[in-house]
Amino acid sequence: MRRGTQVKGIVLAGGTGSRLWPLTKVISKQLLPVYDKPMIYYPISTLFLAGIRDIAIVTTPEEQSRFKSLLGTGSDWGVSFTYVAQAKPTGISDAFVLCEEFLAGSPSILILGDNLFVGAGLGKSLARFLDHTSGARILGYHVKNPSDYGVIEVDENLKVLTIQEKPAQPRSNLAIPGLYVVDSTAPEKARQVQPSARGEKEITEFLSAYMLEDNLQIEVMQRGSAWMDMGNPLDLAATSDYIKVIEQRQGTKISCPEEIAWRSGWITDAKLIELGNRLAPSSYGKYLGSLPR
Ligand code: G1P
Repeated sequence: MRRGTQVKGIVLAGGTGSRLWPLTKVISKQLLPVYDKPMIYYPISTLFLAGIRDIAIVTTPEEQSRFKSLLGTGSDWGVSFTYVAQAKPTGISDAFVLCEEFLAGSPSILILGDNLFVGAGLGKSLARFLDHTSGARILGYHVKNPSDYGVIEVDENLKVLTIQEKPAQPRSNLAIPGLYVVDSTAPEKARQVQPSARGEKEITEFLSAYMLEDNLQIEVMQRGSAWMDMGNPLDLAATSDYIKVIEQRQGTKISCPEEIAWRSGWITDAKLIELGNRLAPSSYGKYLGSLPR
């Protein structure tokens, strides 16, 4: 896999958001505010930092128009967004099947629309991921509640031994964050996945196919870096606070897609100022306008 336009991105922003009801009764989880921006800006920014500019946004059919109103075609940010509908929450791995036409044989990076990644060197780690030629690559993150996530067990050389979805008796405390880099065989592998007891085509079973081929690599995220799953009220509020504290302290924004696009040279100074003016009089708009000076 080579960095840049060849690797395509998928943001999974469907689902019912039932763990956040009633917050998500009438609006998609991934459009909820996380301090000063909609939740989906965070995973989109992670893809931007990895140099990905061709991105599919997977949503429920009902909510697709709202995402289109917010994000448009991507041309304002120098990227391309393609919208794909997922009628039922059939599981994460199904996104590769739904996006098969969009992928058109390309390797891809799938990120969950409610996952936040922040950390020094994350962009570089992802770029290294994308240099990989075949197989799948995932992250690992030490948590104290592994039973809430996909869990991976590795040996001392980081060879993957087992993968389990929300095990009652986890074999390690290494959770698998919602960011998966996969080669062009992903749709074919995803098609083989059978629904689990909760009726979903689990990402962990999909990843097991790569593990059995001895083609699954893991990179453990550094201590001090942040991974949050914003799908429950406590972590949603905690993430908002985390972003607020750092942004207030430093006067810079975390996961600001317009800023990343501008710093990457995808949009001009004039475009960034125009985007800022459109959001005036918000502090977000003023921030964009202040960057080129
Ligand atoms: C999903 C995955 C799980 C992963 C988690 C990360 O769980 O199934 O393997 O660790 O996302 O956020 P869900 O949030 O859909 O229950």
